[in-house]
Amino acid sequence: MTKVAIIGTGPCGLSMLRSFEQAEKKGEKIPQIVCFEKQEDWGGLWNYNWRTGSDQYGDPVPNSMYRYLWSNGPKECLEFADYSFDEHFGHPIPSFPPREVLYDYIIGRVKKGNLKNKVRFNTTVMTVTYNGKNFEVTSYDKKNDKFSKDTFDYVVVSTGHFSVPFIPEYPGMKSFPGRILHSHDFRDAEEFRGKNVIVLGSSYSAEDVALQCNKYGAKSVTIGYRHNPMGFKWPNGVKEVHYLDRLEGNKAIFKDGHEQEADAIILCSGYLHHFPFLTEDLKLKTRNRLYPPKLYKGVVWENNHKLLYLGMQDQFHTFNMFDCQTWYARDVIMGKIKIPSNSEIEKDINKWVVMEEKLENPDQMIDFQTEYTKELHGLSDYPKIDFELIRKHFKEWEHHKVEDIMTYRNKSFSSPVTGSIAPIHHTPWVSAMDDSSKAFLNQSKK
Ligand SMILES: Cc1cc2nc3c(=O)[nH]c(=O)nc-3n(C[C@H](O)[C@H](O)[C@H](O)COP(=O)(O)OP(=O)(O)OC[C@H]3O[C@@H](n4cnc5c(N)ncnc54)[C@H](O)[C@@H]3O)c2cc1C
Ligand SMILES: NC(=O)c1ccc[n+]([C@@H]2O[C@H](COP(=O)([O-])OP(=O)(O)OC[C@H]3O[C@@H](n4cnc5c(N)ncnc54)[C@H](OP(=O)(O)O)[C@@H]3O)[C@@H](O)[C@H]2O)c1
Repeated sequence: MTKVAIIGTGPCGLSMLRSFEQAEKKGEKIPQIVCFEKQEDWGGLWNYNWRTGSDQYGDPVPNSMYRYLWSNGPKECLEFADYSFDEHFGHPIPSFPPREVLYDYIIGRVKKGNLKNKVRFNTTVMTVTYNGKNFEVTSYDKKNDKFSKDTFDYVVVSTGHFSVPFIPEYPGMKSFPGRILHSHDFRDAEEFRGKNVIVLGSSYSAEDVALQCNKYGAKSVTIGYRHNPMGFKWPNGVKEVHYLDRLEGNKAIFKDGHEQEADAIILCSGYLHHFPFLTEDLKLKTRNRLYPPKLYKGVVWENNHKLLYLGMQDQFHTFNMFDCQTWYARDVIMGKIKIPSNSEIEKDINKWVVMEEKLENPDQMIDFQTEYTKELHGLSDYPKIDFELIRKHFKEWEHHKVEDIMTYRNKSFSSPVTGSIAPIHHTPWVSAMDDSSKAFLNQSKK
């Protein structure tokens, strides 16, 4: 019997499990599956953890999410085709839920089946090697302090790529008297109430961490961008200046001459694709981009077609793109999809990489990832979902952000699965301080 290892049970790993479960329900004989998860429960980044640094076993904490994290895109754009929001919650809910609500939705799809017994929790994959025929996976059961070796025909890497921070250094950091942290270790904006905060970066973490700090009472927030400013109409108390040059004592001095006293520096400088458990010949090496090279259809490792990567792309599309990838990966593993010749693989990868390198703005990037996802969708029996509507929603959402970065989360979108229209949330995001499911789902609250 074919044996498959799935490493990680975040949204990608869970989607992989779901895809096999659906095939089994149709009467197909599925492979033997072993899932490895280094955390004590599933859900990946969505499984909030207060810890930073190491866990109780000395293993690095993978979690990067924080309190008061709300979806930064419309939930309709990530909806599962085979499990709608309406089905999970019993009625339409607003378009921008907080983390706990999305976590509940992700888990809701998998918890009814018998999937949990396929997962070895608290178990970190330490090494994966390929001997020309199959893979040997060494894992460490942290709770029982026990190493194991298992042999597999296929390995699926679904360990995410927003867990290992990229941490640059600037002159003056060693003697800075305040706190320096990466967004990976940011847990609660309340910590910065009344403080002067410097945020470095110009992507989603920089944007959201800056707004969180502002919303929860920071005295000032100064964002230092490196290449291009985000350029939003920032609220009072937030400004965007050009790149940090150095720190002198508690003073931050920027390349454009701007100076700002600082209590804390939050590095929103992105993450590393980091796979310490893989040998060099199996290791994906890439920056965060929409089409990492060497992955056929964004999934199959070019040099070994029994190694599959999930969710390694930079992400506009998330959960339903992961589903399209896992349904495809499942059919590769089950022999329903044949991988073409090496030259065809190379040609296909190059086609996407060349297109990706020409992209100039968010609308083009949204089109690119929508086309990629649609192509994958057409290759498996993943249920019908309206990707044209999702494309339209993403573009509208981008424009809402440009119009007003403080109000885009108050908008409503329609479902690409059920067609239902999301109700407007009872409280505008800027004054919604409670991120619990209870507060969010209580639609009678005014
Ligand atoms: C701060 C932040 C906010 C985000 N907000 C949104 C949002 O609002 N909307 C959205 O759609 N997306 C958001 N994302 C994007 C996020 O990447 C995806 O939503 C999703 O979590 C990716 O799923 P994944 O399974 O690829 O990775 P992850 O969620 O990272 O899961 C990977 C899993 O692999 C496990 N693992 C790692 N290494 C090992 C190992 N060696 N052995 C065993 N297990 C291992 C980890 O413990 C983890 O459970 C956000 C990301 C970040 C960092
Ligand atoms: N739900 C939410 O609200 C929320 C909140 C936070 C994050 N997220 C998600 O988290 C994921 C990761 O986002 P991210 O912003 O952490 O990573 P990212 O999108 O990969 O962006 C990395 C940023 O780091 C900057 N950078 C890199 N090196 C730097 C240096 N030496 N000095 C200064 N800046 C540097 C880059 O700047 P250049 O552009 O100049 O290279 C870029 O702006 C995304 O999927 C995002 O959607 C979601």
